Amino acid sequence: MARGGRTPPHRYMVHGIRDMAFEQRLGEIAAGVENRLAALLADDALGATPAELAAAMRHAVLGGGKRFRPFLVVEGARALGLADATAIDAAAAIECLHCYSLAHDDLPAMDNDDLRRGRPTVWKAFDEATAILAGDALLTFAFELMARPSTHAHPAVRADLALGLAQASGPAGMVGGQVLDIASEKTVARALHSLDGVTSIQRMKTGALIRFAAEAGAILAQATPRQREALRDYGEALGAAFQIADDLLDAEGDAAATGKAVGKDAAAGKATFVTVLGIDGARARLRELSAAARAALAPFGDAASDLAGAIDFVANRRG
Ligand code: IPE
Ligand code: IPE
Ligand code: MG
Ligand code: MG
Ligand code: MG
Repeated sequence: MARGGRTPPHRYMVHGIRDMAFEQRLGEIAAGVENRLAALLADDALGATPAELAAAMRHAVLGGGKRFRPFLVVEGARALGLADATAIDAAAAIECLHCYSLAHDDLPAMDNDDLRRGRPTVWKAFDEATAILAGDALLTFAFELMARPSTHAHPAVRADLALGLAQASGPAGMVGGQVLDIASEKTVARALHSLDGVTSIQRMKTGALIRFAAEAGAILAQATPRQREALRDYGEALGAAFQIADDLLDAEGDAAATGKAVGKDAAAGKATFVTVLGIDGARARLRELSAAARAALAPFGDAASDLAGAIDFVANRRG
């Protein structure tokens, strides 16, 4: 699996059969993005960045994680004819943004977690101020990377990528979803603790960035509006499925496989798909979303076989 990654190859199965082509591709992309991130976050590349901040940024980003969003960027682009190297910086930018969201999500003021990717969370390994600032730095760096000419030759493409990333991760996207997620701990109001409520929380906090990661491949490839819409539809369904799987893992997974504490959502009183639908209901919704994601890939034919593999990975993952 990914060099430096923590994903052992047995972490998911599809009807007892592993999708080796998908696994190999995920591992390949994870290794490529890990190398690129290590170079981008090396001390000499970070210039005047204080050493402690640089170390905290690397702790947040390197040596773990499934690199699922980078996989979507690179594979979406490949389905439209682009080589991996063409998509790697956009993929790395999205991963930096994701890692910032995790560093902040784990803070005492939010989910108060000690363990992430099988290691101490950033605030545990450093301190709270450093974790906040490392998150801020990664958020800012993600946009710097998107805007760098090396990310794409065309300024309009780079602007489109930055716009999409801002919309997916900003107040009406990930940050807004995190606000509603935390708010759900403090109320039992049906506005949040209902299927509609939880669907919109999850669409914002997790779905938006996953949908954008899939769409980014189309932006990089300067695809037709129909191709872009197809990848967006795929990412939308997959993003919702991804968070349902995360909620199921919190309810019935184990920390050894997930690399993070489990059983915390219900204890915190959060609105999740599991608290609203129950285990069986959440699983049924996951199956519906998997079918929707698969249907969205129809226009790409065989070129999307690994994107299709990602659907089973999401539905069956154990970590
Ligand atoms: C965890 O994301 C947070 C959610 C949005 C559910 P991942 O499950 O992708 O975490 P890593 O990157 O593999 O550690
Ligand atoms: C986090 O959701 C979503 C983010 C935007 C970071 P969770 O709080 O469920 O993610 P985990 O379970 O800590 O990875
Ligand atoms: Mg959270
Ligand atoms: Mg959390
Ligand atoms: Mg979770």
